[in-house]
Amino acid sequence: MNIYTTEELLEARRSITSTLNKCEKVILKLQPGKSQHTLMARRIAAFRIALDLIERELNSMTIRLEEPGDYREVENLTREAFWNKYRPGCFEHYVLHRYRDRPEFVKELDYVVEEDGKIVAHIMYSRAQITADDGSTIPIMIFGPVSVLPEKQGKGYGSKLIRHTLDLAEKLGCGAVAITGDPGYYHRFGFVSGSGLGIYYNGLPRSEEAPFFMVKELKEGFLEGITGVYRDPEGYFVEYDDVEAFDAKFPPKEKKKLSGQLV
Ligand SMILES: CC(C)(COP(=O)(O)OP(=O)(O)OC[C@H]1O[C@@H](n2cnc3c(N)ncnc32)[C@H](O)[C@@H]1OP(=O)(O)O)[C@@H](O)C(=O)NCCC(=O)NCCS
Repeated sequence: MNIYTTEELLEARRSITSTLNKCEKVILKLQPGKSQHTLMARRIAAFRIALDLIERELNSMTIRLEEPGDYREVENLTREAFWNKYRPGCFEHYVLHRYRDRPEFVKELDYVVEEDGKIVAHIMYSRAQITADDGSTIPIMIFGPVSVLPEKQGKGYGSKLIRHTLDLAEKLGCGAVAITGDPGYYHRFGFVSGSGLGIYYNGLPRSEEAPFFMVKELKEGFLEGITGVYRDPEGYFVEYDDVEAFDAKFPPKEKKKLSGQLV
C-alpha cells in the first residue's frame, strides 16, 4: 500500500475532477446504447470511484507538523517503536522529549502521520555539522528518531515520512543529511556510506568500515572536495538515570534482552 501526502491527494483530486467534468460533457453528445456511450459511462464510474477513495484517504490520513498537544502521544509512539529493539528498553523517547527545546531541533521538519485521529509515525531532524580537515565547519542535518507504531510497520509510513521531509529539507536549503542506521533500509533513499564521500564517524579510525554511518547530499556536489569528521549533536547523548526517571512516567513495560540488539 502506498501512502500519499495531502498535497499529492489534492493534486490527484483536481486532475481527476477536471477529466471527469470533460467526460460528463462528452457523454451528453453520445447515443445511449452505443459502445462509445457504454465505454464513456464506465470511465465516468471509474473516476467517481477514484474520487471517493481519495476523499476517504484525505479524511483518514494526514502528514502534518507535530503540535504541542501531540508531544505525549508521539513520545509514547517512539517508546513503543524502539522498546527492546536495539537494547533492553530504549532511550529514544527521552531524546525526543529533550530535543524539542534545543536550538539544533528543526521545527519545520518535525512531522507526524495521523490516521483516523491516531498518530502512527513520527520523524525529527537536528542541525549538525561536519568538522572538515581544514578546520572549517560544514552545516548539515541528521534525522532520527524516526518511529512507526509496531503494528503499522512495513506498510510504507516510514518511507513516506523520510521522503517527504528530505524534500522539505532540500527546500529549506540543507546541503546534506546524515543518518546512523541500517544501510539495508536507508540506501533506498539515496544514502551512501559516509566514507564514500570522505566523511567519517567521530571516534572511529578512518580505515575502519562504518556502514551504519550514511550521508545523502541534497545539493549535488555539496561535499565535493571536503573530508572531515561527523559527530552526533550533544542532544543525542543522554544519561541512564535521566532516561529511567523519564520512563517511569509511562505505563510499565518489561525490558528484555533479545538477540539482534546492539547492547
Ligand atoms: C525503521 C522504521 C522507521 C521503518 O518504517 P516502516 O514504515 O516500518 O518501513 P517502510 O514500510 O517504509 O519500509 C519497509 C521496508 O523497510 C524494511 N525495514 C524496516 N525497518 C528496517 C530496519 N530497521 N532495517 C532494515 N530494513 C528495515 C522492511 O524490511 C521493508 O523492506 P522491503 O521494502 O524491502 O520489503 C520502522 O520500522 C520503525 O519504527 N522501527 C522501529 C524503530 C527504528 O528502528 N527506527 C529507525 C532507527 S535508525
